Amino acid sequence: MRVLSGIQPTGRPHWGNYFGAIRQYIDLQDEQESYYFVANLHALTTVRDPKLLAEYTLDAAIDLLALGLDPARATLFVQSDVPEVSELCWLLMTGAPMGLLERCHAYKDKKAKGLPADAGLFNYPVLMAADILAYDADTVPVGDDQLQHIEVCRDLAASFNHQFGEVFVMPKAKILDASAKVPGIDGEKMSKSYNNTLEIFDDPKAQRKKIMRITTDSRPMDQPKEPAGDHLFQLYSLVATSDQREAMGALYRRGGFGYGEVKKALADAAERYFAEPRSRRAELASQPARVREILADGAERGRKKASQVLARAKEACGLII
Ligand code: TYM
Repeated sequence: MRVLSGIQPTGRPHWGNYFGAIRQYIDLQDEQESYYFVANLHALTTVRDPKLLAEYTLDAAIDLLALGLDPARATLFVQSDVPEVSELCWLLMTGAPMGLLERCHAYKDKKAKGLPADAGLFNYPVLMAADILAYDADTVPVGDDQLQHIEVCRDLAASFNHQFGEVFVMPKAKILDASAKVPGIDGEKMSKSYNNTLEIFDDPKAQRKKIMRITTDSRPMDQPKEPAGDHLFQLYSLVATSDQREAMGALYRRGGFGYGEVKKALADAAERYFAEPRSRRAELASQPARVREILADGAERGRKKASQVLARAKEACGLII
C-alpha cells in the first residue's frame, strides 16, 4: 500500500481532522510507503496573510508530529516544497473538463452564494489530483467531505491514462465509517467554516467551556434516550475508553441523568485523551529548527518520488524531445 494524504494549514486542527483523517495517518505509517503533507498551496486560496500562512504551515507540521506521525517511518513535508506537483497540475488541467470542476462543491457552493470565486478555487481539485498522482499513491485516508475530490482525481487519471498510456496509479479513498463525519458542537459536521469546532490543542479550561456549550435536546431528564445518533454521545465515544462508552450508553438507555453530567465526562475524557500529544506539542514548538529539518528531509524524499512520476507523465504526453 502506498498511502498519501494532506491537511490544509488554515488554523488549529480540530477533532474532525483528527478522528476523520490524522488518526488514520498514524495507523497507516507502517505501510510500505506513506506521504503526508501540509497543503499550503491549497490554503493560499483562503489565507491571504503571508505571515499567518507561514505560521499556520509550521504549526500544522508540529501538530502532526505531536499527534504521533513519525518522520522515521512516514515522509512529512510541505506541499510547495515539491514543485513537481504544480507542474503535474498543469498537465492534468489541460485535460480537465470544465463541467466536472463546476460540479465540485467548494466552487459550486461559493458560486451559489453569489460570492466571487477565483481560478485557484475552481482548480483546487486538479491540484489535489496532482498531489495524489505524483506519488503513485493507491490509498488516500480522508474524511467523507473529500470523497468527491478523490473521484475527480480518479476521473482525471483515467482520462490521462486512456489518452497517453498507463502513467498513473489509480487511487482509492480510505474512510473510517465511524468517524467519516465528526459532528461539531451544534450537531452539524464539524468544520471551521461552521464555527462549531473543538480544537485538539485548546487548553483544557477553554475546551471545557466549549464542551458545556454543546447543543442538546430538551427531553426531561428521567426519559430514557437512544445514544446512537446523539452528537454528544458520538463525541464522547471518540475520546472515551470502550468500557466508558458502554457504561454511558447504558446510562442513556436507562434515563435519569442530565446532559451536564455527560458533558463533564466528555471534558474529562478529552483532557486525558489528548494529554500526551499536548505535552509533546509544547516540546516540539520550542524546537522549530528541528521541525524545519524534518520537513526539508521529507521534501527531499517527496521530490525524489514525484520527479520520477512527472518524468513519466511528460514523456507520455510528448513534452520530452
Ligand atoms: P482539510 O484540511 O479540510 O481536512 C483535513 C482532513 O480532515 C478531514 N475532516 C473531517 N473528517 C471527519 N469529520 C469532519 N468533521 C472533518 N473535517 C475535516 C478531511 O476529510 C481531511 O481528510 N483538500 C484537503 C487537503 C488536501 C488533500 C490532498 C487530502 C490537499 N491535497 C490530497 C488528501 C489528498 C482538505 O482541505 O482537507
